[in-house]
Amino acid sequence: METRTQDTASFEVTPWEVRGKVDYRKLAEHFGVKLITESELEQIRKLAGGELHYLLRRGFFFAHRGLDSILQRIEKGQRWALYTGRGPSADLHLGHILPWMFAKWLCDRFGVELFFEMTDDEKFLVRDLPLEEANKYAYDNALTLIAIGFKPEQLHLIIDTEDIKYLYRIAIRVAKCLTLSTVKHTFGFTDSTNVGAVFFPTLQIAVAFLPTELYREETPVLIPAGIDQDPYFRLARDVADRLGYPKPCTIYCKFVPALTGEEKMSSSRPETAIYILDDDKTVKKKIMNALTGGQPTKELQRKLGGNPDVCVVYRYFQAYVDDDSLVSKIYNDCKSGNLICGECKLILYEHIVRLLQELRERREKAKDVLEYYRISTKFR
Ligand code: TRP
Repeated sequence: METRTQDTASFEVTPWEVRGKVDYRKLAEHFGVKLITESELEQIRKLAGGELHYLLRRGFFFAHRGLDSILQRIEKGQRWALYTGRGPSADLHLGHILPWMFAKWLCDRFGVELFFEMTDDEKFLVRDLPLEEANKYAYDNALTLIAIGFKPEQLHLIIDTEDIKYLYRIAIRVAKCLTLSTVKHTFGFTDSTNVGAVFFPTLQIAVAFLPTELYREETPVLIPAGIDQDPYFRLARDVADRLGYPKPCTIYCKFVPALTGEEKMSSSRPETAIYILDDDKTVKKKIMNALTGGQPTKELQRKLGGNPDVCVVYRYFQAYVDDDSLVSKIYNDCKSGNLICGECKLILYEHIVRLLQELRERREKAKDVLEYYRISTKFR
């Protein structure tokens, strides 16, 4: 199946690139993933003890593969696990941590463990990045991951180049099921792609089967991820049966837009994203310069009101502020002209800075305990 989604609306989503204005409905249809329904949301709410994570409430997590089967297992009290990951090639920005915050909620609500893969090998293979650099970022990015609040028993960290022994035996079995032609087609590789990049997908797939090996018991994973990662997991589901593993399930998140209005924050353009390690002054400057749905002048804004539905700043409220009453107040005050963009941006700034300060403080503490999170500390 083709990964590149390019049609009249002209957007493209691949594991390496997102371009254009994404139509998520079309994208879901094109990838062959299902949209999350109201009744599934209700079911999750019930199973979670009456509360739904705000990223579900607001439709950030919007599509899935096989979610129903995980919900069934929760209902029956059967074992499952979470899996997600990160290609460590740069400093983290706010967009990266959305699935991690959601995963933390799942860990807490369902008493489930998260397997997390740092693909330093991938970034070495597909980017122009020395292996040592990618590995350094793996450690750095892990600090922010831990800072989300995971306890050591909730999070098992895998660094590909160091923890390969957990994956290799699974990966070569996966590799044997995948032809060169399938991998080329799925990821858009060509004859000049290096063979490391061609083999790499087996390692991202392998982690989906690892919990079943480690627990010696059928343990399907649920994978919270950006929808751009779907090609890997489509293949994983294809080969699962043949290898005697349960099919991995996925739940996909929309992208957080760049402050400048593009579809996705991008690490390669620092001005478009808020980094976890940006100092307060930089964060303020970026937010104050963000694209809004406001009127050209204060007077017009007071008279006509703004348009939160196309406003990046409002989108950030939705993505990072849990408090529904505040978020809907922002929406209404914007529409009515009560709130002008400058004031609104300052309110957002306060919230983002609080979040970042907390993460940065916890990152410092994480430095001393990182070892406790590593898979090698917990599984032999
Ligand atoms: N390939 C992903 C990236 O470039 C990293 C990754 C590995 C991942 N395993 C994953 C992402 C599982 C989501 C889910 O960022």
